[in-house]
Amino acid sequence: MEIIKKEVVICLGSSCFARGNKQLVKIVNDYLRDRNLLNEVRFHGQRCFGHCAVGPSLKLDGKLLERQDEDTVIALLDEFFETV
Ligand code: FES
Repeated sequence: MEIIKKEVVICLGSSCFARGNKQLVKIVNDYLRDRNLLNEVRFHGQRCFGHCAVGPSLKLDGKLLERQDEDTVIALLDEFFETV
């Protein structure tokens, strides 16, 4: 039986990427690595979500989260993974 993993998807569309997701890819990856979560989550990029005006965006288990930055994303991940 396959274990259902949590999913983190980061928008790699040009608008989000230029506005911060380039940095967020590393921040999210470091977060997952430092907490030994890399095997428990499916972390990947995707093309434009179609919400460029409110980017940079990412999705946690399908939930779109807008206007993320280096300060907000850690708190978001803490809540998502219940690591606080
Ligand atoms: S580039 Fe990210 S929503 Fe369009």
